[in-house]
Amino acid sequence: MSKRIGAKISGVAGYLPPRVVTNADLEKIVDTTDEWIRTRTGIRERHYADPGVATSHLGTEAARKLLAARGVPAAEIELIVVATVTPDMFFPATACLIQDRLGASRAWGFDLSAACSGFLYALTTGAQFADSGNHRKVLVVGSDVMTSILDFKDRATCVLFGDAAGAVLLEPTANGEEGILDYAHDIDGSGGCNLYMPGGGSLHPASHETVDQRMHYVHQEGQQVFKYAVRRMSELATQILERNGLTSRDLALVVPHQANMRIIRGMQERLGLDDSKVMVNIDRYGNTTAATIPLGLVDAVEQKRLRKGDLVLLIAVGAGYTTGTVLLRWAY
Ligand code: UT7
Repeated sequence: MSKRIGAKISGVAGYLPPRVVTNADLEKIVDTTDEWIRTRTGIRERHYADPGVATSHLGTEAARKLLAARGVPAAEIELIVVATVTPDMFFPATACLIQDRLGASRAWGFDLSAACSGFLYALTTGAQFADSGNHRKVLVVGSDVMTSILDFKDRATCVLFGDAAGAVLLEPTANGEEGILDYAHDIDGSGGCNLYMPGGGSLHPASHETVDQRMHYVHQEGQQVFKYAVRRMSELATQILERNGLTSRDLALVVPHQANMRIIRGMQERLGLDDSKVMVNIDRYGNTTAATIPLGLVDAVEQKRLRKGDLVLLIAVGAGYTTGTVLLRWAY
């Protein structure tokens, strides 16, 4: 049974820190090559935040662009949900920092941790509040400064990620033909050991030892995550399409999480989608964790690949494991 939410995305914006780091730049600091990174991942370059620039700064910039473009005063925002695995600090929540910088004086909010599926979990969470009728304007932000947790001595992970933020505005809709038509999320904690950051939490609080053992960085079993991602993204997409009486041919666009070009193409092949229906921008941004899907929406709007009434599928797999997919009809 589908799970319709009476909420629509009414605006989207992204923010990338200005510093661009190419594969050639990375060749100078780790034992890698432009050719390996391009052919194994599809990434050519990514953006890095400068020291002192944190997740809340990127998220605030994305939100400011969004509100300016929509002509919505910050004081009209009633809820801020931030997806991130790289909060500025454990507390206060990044949502509080963004609320303060924006001057969103009437908003409450919180952070949500679901790694690369984080934006989709934040989207469906925020949408419930818009649907309830109690919140007319909900801000959903996906923001990560992945460079703050990258080990530049581990070539298998450090080349994959970039820093960025994306934001969407959610508003209620009573029109059954637009907005969020369905979603399907699941988690499989047995995969937690394949992608994680062991240090700094209550299990291994920061100490000289945790620093010496490089525990404050991303650790990944790449091949395990790769296989899981291709399989689950294809399965979940098929499930949500089937239960809505649709096939992949009905979709105008799929905006997948951008972790690896080969994962995207693997899913695409299984679903029988041609290139024109799949949003890809990993070549320019790398994997920006919670920001990939809003950045995909921004690029799709700019490239006129998204029009009012289009059927769109958003889909992600991330650490946890977490998996999420959202089926929606583009509303503007
Ligand atoms: O968004 C969160 C979810 N994350 C993902 O979805 C990531 C999923 N995994 C992947 O995308 C891929 O597994 C990776 C891109 C991480 C790795 O690609 P792979 O094709 O699975 O490579 P591999 O781990 O099997 O390694 C193949 C070789 C190894 O060398 P040997 O043992 O064959 O000599 C690695 O040491 O490639 C080597 N290698 C590199 N070589 C040059 C690993 N990283 C690099 C590198 N440059 N940066």
